[in-house]
Amino acid sequence: MAIVEIQDLWKSFRNRRKVVEAVRGVNLTIQEGEVFGFLGPNGAGKTTTLRMLTTLLPPDKGRATIAGYDLRNEPYRVRTCIGYVSQQGGADSALTGRENAIMQARFYGLSAHNAQKRTAELLESLEMATFADRPTRTYSGGQRRRLDLALGLVHQPRLLFLDEPSIGLDPHSRAMLWEEVRKLQANGTTIFLTTHYLDEADQLCDRLAIINAGQIVAEGTSSQLKQQVAGDVITLSLTHSSMTPSQVHDYLREQAFVHEVHALPTTQAQELRLQLSVEHGEEVLVTVVHLLDSIGATVHSITLARPSLDDRCSHSGR
Ligand SMILES: Nc1ncnc2c1ncn2[C@@H]1O[C@H](COP(=O)(O)OP(=O)(O)OP(=O)(O)O)[C@@H](O)[C@H]1O
Ligand SMILES: [Mg+2]
Repeated sequence: MAIVEIQDLWKSFRNRRKVVEAVRGVNLTIQEGEVFGFLGPNGAGKTTTLRMLTTLLPPDKGRATIAGYDLRNEPYRVRTCIGYVSQQGGADSALTGRENAIMQARFYGLSAHNAQKRTAELLESLEMATFADRPTRTYSGGQRRRLDLALGLVHQPRLLFLDEPSIGLDPHSRAMLWEEVRKLQANGTTIFLTTHYLDEADQLCDRLAIINAGQIVAEGTSSQLKQQVAGDVITLSLTHSSMTPSQVHDYLREQAFVHEVHALPTTQAQELRLQLSVEHGEEVLVTVVHLLDSIGATVHSITLARPSLDDRCSHSGR
């Protein structure tokens, strides 16, 4: 069953006559029980999307249902089902970690007894006991981040939004966070997290989407995405053959192992520069040279590159 359904969500910001289109027509469906990852470079629109889905920011256009409730018409109901750990965190620095967590639990309707019990459990599992009773203004960055997590988890929401949960955590705390996410998932919680780390997405997420410049540019399981983007790129420079440039282009395009052919700009009239997306680049490299030779073309240079998921994040879209 879908727990999040987003249709054509848009948001732009206006600052001193400048308009930033932060989210441009995002569509997503997240199934209950999934861990869903949102990847993308700085400024891609991740936090803006999350802020809309958590009712903190009204969308300009589009609609979303969260746990069956309409985001625009039933924001109060949406809020009862979700937890949100924002990128900045939201602890009160005058209170201790424990007090913050108990207050949050009470805010979400837990009884005083249950709020204390749940807080104690959580402080234990996030290994916060040594600093839980100090004012949070004395916390280190990583300790504060752990408290942010505790605040998002304390009322055991059905759906948890985590905005870059592992930023600022040392490797041990990061492993603890991953463990906590897995435990939550085992208990039926759905998690929508943003991250810059592919290994984190790989480890944790059932499915992911890559957002760039406000638009989703790829979506699927981690291995599906890798297949999509792991295609190797062969860049070659050649001088004309008996065929015209467009015939060469079409000839290469017809080969079964070639996904795409792009012409690149050249400086010399006789030169043709092409970029081929292929599978198993190192195996087909020689075949490409033979094919071009067979049509009378002279290959001047040929290079093979392997774009990563990171390249896809930063170069696609606008
Ligand atoms: N309140 C605002 N006023 C103006 N522009 C904003 C505002 N909030 C976000 N933006 C702009 O919207 C774009 C998307 O920002 P957003 O915070 O959603 O990115 P992000 O994907 O979360 O990036 P990061 O990885 O750095 O956290 C950016 O260009 C940002 O500068
Ligand atoms: Mg962000």
